[in-house]
Amino acid sequence: MFRLGLRDYTTFVMPFFNPLRPSYAEDPYPALARLRAQDPVFFSRDLNAWIVTRYAECSLALHDTARFRSDFLAAEGPRWAVARARNELFLGGVPALSAMAEPDHHRMRETVSAVFAPRAVQRLRERIADAVDGLLAGLAPGEPFEVMRGLAYPLPRMVIAEQLGIPETDREEFQAHADAIARAMFGGAEPAEVARASEARDALLAYVARLHANPEALDRSGALARMIDAFTGGALSQAEVVGLAVDVAMAGNDPTACLIGNGLLALLRHPDQIDLVRGEPALMADATDEFARFDSPLHALMRIAAEDVELAQKVIRRGEVVYLMVGAANRDPAQFADPDRLDVRRENRRHLGFGAGAHFCLGSPLGRLEAEVALCTLITRYPTLHLAGRGAEYEPEFEMRGPRRLTVAYD
Ligand code: HEM
Repeated sequence: MFRLGLRDYTTFVMPFFNPLRPSYAEDPYPALARLRAQDPVFFSRDLNAWIVTRYAECSLALHDTARFRSDFLAAEGPRWAVARARNELFLGGVPALSAMAEPDHHRMRETVSAVFAPRAVQRLRERIADAVDGLLAGLAPGEPFEVMRGLAYPLPRMVIAEQLGIPETDREEFQAHADAIARAMFGGAEPAEVARASEARDALLAYVARLHANPEALDRSGALARMIDAFTGGALSQAEVVGLAVDVAMAGNDPTACLIGNGLLALLRHPDQIDLVRGEPALMADATDEFARFDSPLHALMRIAAEDVELAQKVIRRGEVVYLMVGAANRDPAQFADPDRLDVRRENRRHLGFGAGAHFCLGSPLGRLEAEVALCTLITRYPTLHLAGRGAEYEPEFEMRGPRRLTVAYD
């Protein structure tokens, strides 16, 4: 889950479903609503993929990992060859959890799942609050503040290093290595990038070997200690520890930044809802869940049909790509009353903004806690906070949804 631009996809030009249009990036919901009503399982020739927009079919497919597989690196066909080769080279053939099939998926997820449980992440509340305070320290009345660059992107990177339990002296280097691998995996694979990523892979393998020999250097409550224990006990290989650590270090960063950006924008555009939360800040914890429904950071989840499968009277052939548009499913009137309304007190929380089934987001309690603390601090500390300058600015993209820049100010 890394933020890709639309140049990474084939261009597609469905008349009312064209994510290349700036108007789609700013507000995709009218186009998605039309698609959901007129052709809820639609084949886009230009994307060479199915686009699924109703809640019922998205939910069904997310729960049916046997027929809708997410392990695209193991799929047949030339479409996946480059990604597979890069994964082999930089991560020893260890896919991200989201792209892993059973039984490996369960085995690997289990090694760290307890560390990401709702109660376990609460230990980070104060650290998150300190990080938010530090990031907001430079705010001054009347001065524009770009929330994405100043707060939303840096915060998850600081917090995940803490949650992994990487010794402070090693954090910068670890993140630089993880970034180098992610760039080479998803970028243009320039020779210099490839060389840097190969170095990073070797350095991380050596780091895991050092930690294995010297486990007391690690914070016992962090995720990395669990991974090293699993390596010592034979449940994970050295390459799997590197793959899982890089995945955990990267997977939540962009979605959490987008949850903060989308949540703040939703509140600023709904004065009645911001007043409700200002009056009762405890509401913010549930409000973050409503933000994940109302304007989901991950809009499209990719799956591959493992066999011919019928969905809403369409036949999806084995090997075809399916995009489950959870951002559209989360506005489906068949599932949510008044779905286009932001309602921080909404009772029906069965949205798909964090996925569903076996691949349900591992980090949702952590990401939600970060958004809760960041948004609560922003709206209560600065009661006159408002959009400023160009406000929310989007760039065309398909899988991830959130402003690239979000400028605010207070008086
Ligand atoms: C708060 C904002 C976040 C949102 C909206 C979000 C959304 C999602 C979604 C929709 C999925 C399912 C992907 C699929 O089924 O293809 C997912 C999976 C995942 N998320 Fe998050 N995520 C967030 C934060 C985080 C954080 C903070 C982490 C840090 C660990 C994280 C780690 C993961 C991982 C590892 C998976 C794959 C889980 C698996 O396949 O077992 N996420 N996330």
